[in-house]
Amino acid sequence: MGEAVAAAFALEGLPDDLGRVTPSNRPDLADFQSNAALAAAKPLKRDPTEIAAAVARSLHRHPAVDSAEAAGPGFLNLRVSNALLSARANALADDPRAGAEPVAAPARVLVDYGGPNVAKEMIVSHLRASIIGESIKRLHRFAGDRTLGDAHLGDWGFQMGLLIVAVLDERIELVDALAMTGDADSKPTAAQQAAIELVSLEDLDRLYPIAAARAKADPLYRERARRATAELQAGRGDYQLLWRQFVRITKQTLERDFHALGVDFDLWKGESDVEPLIEPMIADLEAKGLLVEDQGARIIRVARPEDRRELPPLLIVSSEGAAMYGTTDLATIVDRRRYFDPQRILYVVDQRQADHFETVFRAAYLAAYAREGSLEHIGFGTMNGPDGKPFRTREGGVLKLRDLIDMALTKARERLEEAGLGKELSPELLDDTALKVAVATLKFADLASYRGTSYVFDLDRFSSFEGKTGPYLLYQAVRVKSLLRKATAEGLEAGEVTVAAPAERDLVLVLDAFGQGVNEAYARSAPNVIADHAWRLAQSFSKFYQACPILTANPAIAASRLALASLTLKQLELALDLLGISAPERM
Ligand code: ARG
Repeated sequence: MGEAVAAAFALEGLPDDLGRVTPSNRPDLADFQSNAALAAAKPLKRDPTEIAAAVARSLHRHPAVDSAEAAGPGFLNLRVSNALLSARANALADDPRAGAEPVAAPARVLVDYGGPNVAKEMIVSHLRASIIGESIKRLHRFAGDRTLGDAHLGDWGFQMGLLIVAVLDERIELVDALAMTGDADSKPTAAQQAAIELVSLEDLDRLYPIAAARAKADPLYRERARRATAELQAGRGDYQLLWRQFVRITKQTLERDFHALGVDFDLWKGESDVEPLIEPMIADLEAKGLLVEDQGARIIRVARPEDRRELPPLLIVSSEGAAMYGTTDLATIVDRRRYFDPQRILYVVDQRQADHFETVFRAAYLAAYAREGSLEHIGFGTMNGPDGKPFRTREGGVLKLRDLIDMALTKARERLEEAGLGKELSPELLDDTALKVAVATLKFADLASYRGTSYVFDLDRFSSFEGKTGPYLLYQAVRVKSLLRKATAEGLEAGEVTVAAPAERDLVLVLDAFGQGVNEAYARSAPNVIADHAWRLAQSFSKFYQACPILTANPAIAASRLALASLTLKQLELALDLLGISAPERM
């Protein structure tokens, strides 16, 4: 369409880069619109209505154009021909990417997302980071970038010292068992290993909140935990053994739960992995003249004169000599450069950490650890409960990933039973389907609005099979699948698409917009654009399915409509996959 418009402008002696058309905001009047006549008229001091009328006249003769009308002060309303739509649908049907082009220059992109912490419970911001980050990683992979997703496990902070103190206080026998351990690399004896393995995730879950509360109230206890943290970081053997057990059991559970949610990290690196890099990095920062003494701590000043609000310095070494959150983040940039040399690093983390990242990024640019602009914070709002505060479980506790998945699963099972599938599906298939529906429920709700906006968690609404929900999209995908199965059983095959009916036109116009949607979602790190597209596609398909009989139509029409249906399924599944959602066979 754009080409036809460009050619028509060229005929008028106007620049042919004016061919950009956008989907019409009055679909009852036109498929596309253009305001290029207005833009062209200004510099030439010509009358835009006259340009629009001339362009419309010459467009009338173009085979791609059904109608072209000049409207208002120089707008063009365009309707594409059925011939053009048919050709477009056939091209999309032949394209395994359904119209989404790969990027011209693929890049190495590292996505830092999830960010759960050892021992501390997952909170909703970790859930959102995982869902949004997974989708952004998939968008990059689909575009042809080389991607790595890293969970960046929080395994090195004060909470580790706290847990060491809490566990050893409760289990005196462990103190004795581990007493003989030497340095960080020493192997535990069989007896030591057995003692350590008795420490379970339930222990950590139970002890952490108690210890955290006590550290707040009791300065002596806090001091012990601080010292334990420092000794752990310095490589004390018995603490290392215990800490490795904490990390191991946490990771096991996290990996399982994330996997159930369709979130799979390529790397499970942690803050602790960069410990060996910290000393040399500090020396390097020192040599570059970036470290400043400040009340016993060592900091990097990153404020700039043009800043509109004051940005705090980056704390590299605390007054107690400990490495901080920002220290490991900076060293992680150095580390990532060594093993992946990423051209971009995307940090998908809660909006409330915006200042932290701005500070880290500036320090990294000052130290020349990354190219200016190559580090990006992809922030997001919170998922709130009905009270408008960050979502909590019914018992008032912070959310556990597993509990949330279970809630969504229970709801999905209920809905599937209501729909009568309890009897139709085998128990295994029912489990699998319920999980897919649950994942679609949670993820689509999270990805449906722009990531910057907060939303209220409303499981009843999100799990409905109707409306703008994940399950509705799955339901439409399943309808197409069953239609295609039936067609195969009746020996019908997809063929050449010939667009004729209005519902066919509308469907193809939506299918046509996928590529643009993917580009926009990629450029703005905005999976909601894909979510919107999937929703519009499902709706158009539903209308098409209602208006256009398929299996009972004459063979040529049936073949054309089947081709449209299978193209729809292909594109819908691509879109869902970009959101990290997959459709079952039946529901
Ligand atoms: N563990 C951190 C938290 O819970 C999130 C980590 C985000 N990634 C990063 N590179 N800092 O807040």
